Amino acid sequence: MSLIDNDITVGEMLRKAGVSRRGFIKYCTAMASAMALPPWMGAAMAEQLRHAPRPSVIYLSFQECTGCFESLTRSFAPTIESLIFNVISLDYDDTLMAAAGDAAETALANAMKDNFGKYVLVIDGSVPTGAGGAYCTVGGRSAVDTLREAAKGAAVIICVGTCSAFGGIPFANPNPTEAWPVTAIVDDKPIINVSGCPPIAEAITGTLLQYVTTGRVPDLDEHLRPKAFFGNTIHDRCYRRPFYDEGKFAKSFDDEGARNGWCLYELGCKGPTTYNACATVKWNGGTSFPIQSGHGCLGCSEPEFWDKGSFYAAQSASEWGKAGHASPQKTLELAAGAGGLGAALGAASAGVGRLRQHRREQDTVEKQEE
Ligand code: SF4
Ligand code: SF4
Ligand code: F3S
Repeated sequence: MSLIDNDITVGEMLRKAGVSRRGFIKYCTAMASAMALPPWMGAAMAEQLRHAPRPSVIYLSFQECTGCFESLTRSFAPTIESLIFNVISLDYDDTLMAAAGDAAETALANAMKDNFGKYVLVIDGSVPTGAGGAYCTVGGRSAVDTLREAAKGAAVIICVGTCSAFGGIPFANPNPTEAWPVTAIVDDKPIINVSGCPPIAEAITGTLLQYVTTGRVPDLDEHLRPKAFFGNTIHDRCYRRPFYDEGKFAKSFDDEGARNGWCLYELGCKGPTTYNACATVKWNGGTSFPIQSGHGCLGCSEPEFWDKGSFYAAQSASEWGKAGHASPQKTLELAAGAGGLGAALGAASAGVGRLRQHRREQDTVEKQEE
C-alpha cells in the first residue's frame, strides 16, 4: 500500500499537483542557495529531479516526541516543501497514514518487500534497548527489531533529529531505557544524520532532494551530517557576530546589552561549537531563529548536547573545536551511479560513527567471551 500514487515520475507528480516548472526551479534554486551551491545548480537540480523516478520512502518513528515530524510537516505551507514530501513515494508512515493495526503492519511489510534494496529509510527517534526493547514496541515488535529488519532492504538511512542521530534526550544521563542512536544498531548501510532538536525542515527536505537528484549520499561531516547544512557553526554566520568581535556582550536577558541585540555568549550561547544552518536558513520560512529571538543557541544539533552542562553558563574557549563524538571516517560508495550533477555536488561518502565502533568492540568482546 502506498500513501500516494507512486507509479509516476517526479515531473508527472508536479504537473498533477499544479506546480509550474518555473515555481519548481525557483524552489530548487533557493535550496541550492541554502546548500551554498552556485545558482545554476538550482536549475540543473530541477531538471534532473523532474525526470527522476520517485523513490520509495519508509518513515519509522521510535522513541521520540514527534517534534521532528512537526518540524517537517509544518514547513511553511502550502509551500513546495510539502510537495517535495509528496514527490517521494511515501509508502509507510505510521503518523500520517490512515491505516492502523494489522493493515498498517501489512503496509510496512509490503513496502519493504516491494522495494527491497531500493527504499530510503527515514528514522525519527532513538532506539531503546533496555528490557529487551520493551520501552518502544509497535504491533508487538520492538523498535530495535523493526529497525534491524527495515535496514536490511534500505538503500540509505536518513536519521531525522538528534534522537535518531545521536541518541538525543532519551540517551542523556541516566538513559533509563538504554537508548542508542541508529548508528549503534546498524553498521552496514550508508547513514545520513540530519540532526537538530528538531532539525530545520529545509535541512530534511534538502537532504532528501539532494539524494533523490543524485542517487548519492552527499558530503558528510565527521558526525555523518550533510556539509551543505552543517558545514558552518551558528557563530560563523550569526548576525550578532560583530558584537562578539567588539566584545559587546549581554550580561542578562533584560539588560541594555540584550535590548541592543549584543552577543549572547556570556548568557550561555553554544553557537561557537554548534554546526547547523539556523543562522542562514532560519525557521518558519526564514522568519527567525533562537538567537534572533533573544535566546542563545543550546547546541541542539550536536551529540550529547543535553549532558554538556548548563545552557546558561558561558562556554570556556577550551571547549571550542571539540567534537562530541570523535568519528572515524569510512567511505561507502552507493550502488547508484552519479551523473555530472552528482559529481559537481561532491564525491559520495558516508561514514560510521564512534558508536558503531563501540558496537563492534562490544561484539568482539562478546565473541571472545563465548
Ligand atoms: Fe523530539 Fe528533539 Fe528527539 Fe526530535 S530530536 S524527537 S524534537 S526530542
Ligand atoms: Fe556567536 Fe552566539 Fe554571540 Fe551569535 S550570539 S555571535 S552565535 S556567541
Ligand atoms: Fe538548535 Fe541552536 Fe539552531 S539550539 S535550533 S542549533 S540555534
